[in-house]
Amino acid sequence: MLKVAEVSKRFGNFQVLTNISFDVKNGEKVGIIGPNGAGKTTLFNIISGFLKPDSGEIIYKEVRITAKKPSWIAKIGIVRTFQIIKLFENLTVAQNIEAAGGDVEILKEMNLWAKRNEIAKNLSQGEMRRLSIAMALCLDPKILLLDEPFSGLDFQDSAQLAQTIQSLDGKMAMIIIEHRLAELFGVAERVLVLNAGKIIFDGLPEDVFESREVREAYLGRKYANSLCK
Ligand SMILES: Nc1ncnc2c1ncn2[C@@H]1O[C@H](COP(=O)(O)OP(=O)(O)O)[C@@H](O)[C@H]1O
Ligand SMILES: [Mg+2]
Repeated sequence: MLKVAEVSKRFGNFQVLTNISFDVKNGEKVGIIGPNGAGKTTLFNIISGFLKPDSGEIIYKEVRITAKKPSWIAKIGIVRTFQIIKLFENLTVAQNIEAAGGDVEILKEMNLWAKRNEIAKNLSQGEMRRLSIAMALCLDPKILLLDEPFSGLDFQDSAQLAQTIQSLDGKMAMIIIEHRLAELFGVAERVLVLNAGKIIFDGLPEDVFESREVREAYLGRKYANSLCK
């Protein structure tokens, strides 16, 4: 359904992404992990049209969407959330949903119905995160891109969010950037590891740390050999 083909990007002299290629199937849930600065958010910016790659293509349902406008890309079904939550913080929860063009009924699915008349800035971190996802869902995505959805959430909010993500299973594909591996591996079927702008692993969550290159990226060379079965 989505094909990222040989995407490269540099900022000045800094090569942030090098020949990134992967596919996402209909309904698939793909996790992306990797150290800070690996280029994960830049990749989302390119897929969602906020940045233009220097080379390579983004193909969605056989259509080349590389460097199209974000609003157009969202309209055809690829919708993202941001690492820093973006809400209308002085509007109520219900008004936020209306502003996103959605039906307030969605708040029931997102476990926010009881908060529908609350001003958004008074929500807990977890509730804000769920509201931002609810607003993304108002655009009826076929592929939902979540940038670090679990960051900053406490145990309870994380469990709640994991449940929300599970409840969307099969309704759309998802690509989830996340540092919190336990939470990510609970929802992702497949994991990509990005390190210094390159994909160093593409496979099952349970196999990620079998890869010496992944262990080196996370633990350094000194300890990369010490995680043996
Ligand atoms: N617009 C930009 N201009 C210049 N450098 C950028 C820009 N956006 C990101 N970078 C740099 O690119 C690298 C990758 O950033 P990013 O994609 O945000 O990484 P990640 O999300 O994996 O932590 C970082 O070194 C960051 O400072
Ligand atoms: Mg990032």
